[in-house]
Amino acid sequence: MSQNRRPLIAGNWKMNGLKADGLALAGALAERMRAAADPAFDMLVCPPFTLLASVGDALGTSGVALGAQDCHANEKGAHTADISAAMLSDIGCGFVIVGHSERRTDHGEDDEQVQAKAGAAQAGGLTAIICIGETEQERDDGKTFEVVKSQLAGSLPSGADASNTVIAYEPVWAIGTGRTPSNDEVQEVHALIRDGLSQALGADQADAVRILYGGSMKPENAKDLIALADVDGGLIGGASLKAEDFFGIAESC
Ligand code: PGA
Repeated sequence: MSQNRRPLIAGNWKMNGLKADGLALAGALAERMRAAADPAFDMLVCPPFTLLASVGDALGTSGVALGAQDCHANEKGAHTADISAAMLSDIGCGFVIVGHSERRTDHGEDDEQVQAKAGAAQAGGLTAIICIGETEQERDDGKTFEVVKSQLAGSLPSGADASNTVIAYEPVWAIGTGRTPSNDEVQEVHALIRDGLSQALGADQADAVRILYGGSMKPENAKDLIALADVDGGLIGGASLKAEDFFGIAESC
């Protein structure tokens, strides 16, 4: 956390939630956010596509932002079942997650595609949350720095800056497992990412870009993680599905 960067607490609902669950969760978050006097964080939820409109309505003017979990690299056209950045923006989204490890694994997305999606998000007026992170094997082989550096360089589109880009460092082996790297290990990767951003965007932009940690973040470990010098919030899966836990994480900022 740094004075220069306002923490972002982002919830990735993944493929969870029917209408009633989504509305109840969004309603509870909106209520807590309205009651929070001068919160020290930005809050974002990324529900499944089916809930974007209704969750957006439930969030209303609460200050909780709306985002999606993916977008297509093209602006429009013959891409059955895909959703463009313009469509997301049109429905009230300000953010979109791209390159989540589950997309990279389930749908074979590579850095080049992630970069194209992030570029499309940018062109559509959205902030792209670009996800990167090593697998357990890569960490065991001592390749974490190499993998993270190359994913960052390969996924960052031209024109990226602090206003349209957030990076999420999510070690694949920490997602949904209850395991996390040590605080020192998290900080050293975040510092490496900041350095990579500095080379790509210049020091001023790099200093302003928010770098989130993701992977088994919960109220119990959030405070220590968010206190790290180059951690500017979290991308939260499981714990974002309960208003109490998600808000608990936010309040540790
Ligand atoms: P988790 O997921 O918090 O459930 O580990 C994080 C993510 O995949 O973004």
